[in-house]
Amino acid sequence: MHHKSSDEQESHATLPFSQACENNKDPILSVLQKELQGHVHVLEIGSGTGQHSVYFAPRLTHLQWQTSDVSNNHTAIKAWHASYPAQNLHAPLRFDLAYDMLPANDVQPSYDTVFTANTLHIISWPFVEKLFELVGGALPLRGKLIVYGPFNENGHYTSASNQQFDNRLRQRDPKSGIRHLEDILEVARQHRLTLSERYAMPANNQILVFQKV
Ligand SMILES: C[S@@+](CC[C@H](N)C(=O)[O-])C[C@H]1O[C@@H](n2cnc3c(N)ncnc32)[C@H](O)[C@@H]1O
Repeated sequence: MHHKSSDEQESHATLPFSQACENNKDPILSVLQKELQGHVHVLEIGSGTGQHSVYFAPRLTHLQWQTSDVSNNHTAIKAWHASYPAQNLHAPLRFDLAYDMLPANDVQPSYDTVFTANTLHIISWPFVEKLFELVGGALPLRGKLIVYGPFNENGHYTSASNQQFDNRLRQRDPKSGIRHLEDILEVARQHRLTLSERYAMPANNQILVFQKV
């Protein structure tokens, strides 16, 4: 087990922190370790605080982890990267789903994986469609899009806590909200992304793995 030095603990205490990321990082990592064998270049969309990236990159050393987000979050992501650097972890690229292309980096010409956590219920539905369009267009054959978050099934919430969460989201922003799995699968299909695996995750979340066909 890795014990943090007092320096690390001190810097950690000043970083923007998401408790949800702390709770879900291990279960997500287990899925990524299984799904990303042989993959070499991940683009993360909506890196948020950057906490996921500093945990995943040093535990997936066979690949490069490229973070991205809207500019507002770059200070946080860079602060986490400064405290927990890793050779295969890359500073955030500016990316907004209003843009017409995925962000390019100079590490490798293209991404074989896109990962995004807790974003589809935050962004508007047109931006959900845009994400699948851009990712479907950019991934090579058999490239993967891996999505983590809550989803409704058969027109229903999968838990009372998800229903409460959805109500809070919509009160804050009527364009946000938990998406229906069936709608996601349909928009994915339109962009040549087929569901290859689905994982039940703690706290009524899921991981959906899509593969470009
Ligand atoms: C709830 S946070 C999730 C952050 C992190 N992935 C996590 O799991 O904690 C939603 C993320 O979506 C990003 N986001 C919101 N609107 C966006 C847009 N138009 N384009 C790209 N990312 C966006 C936010 O900046 C934020 O990082």
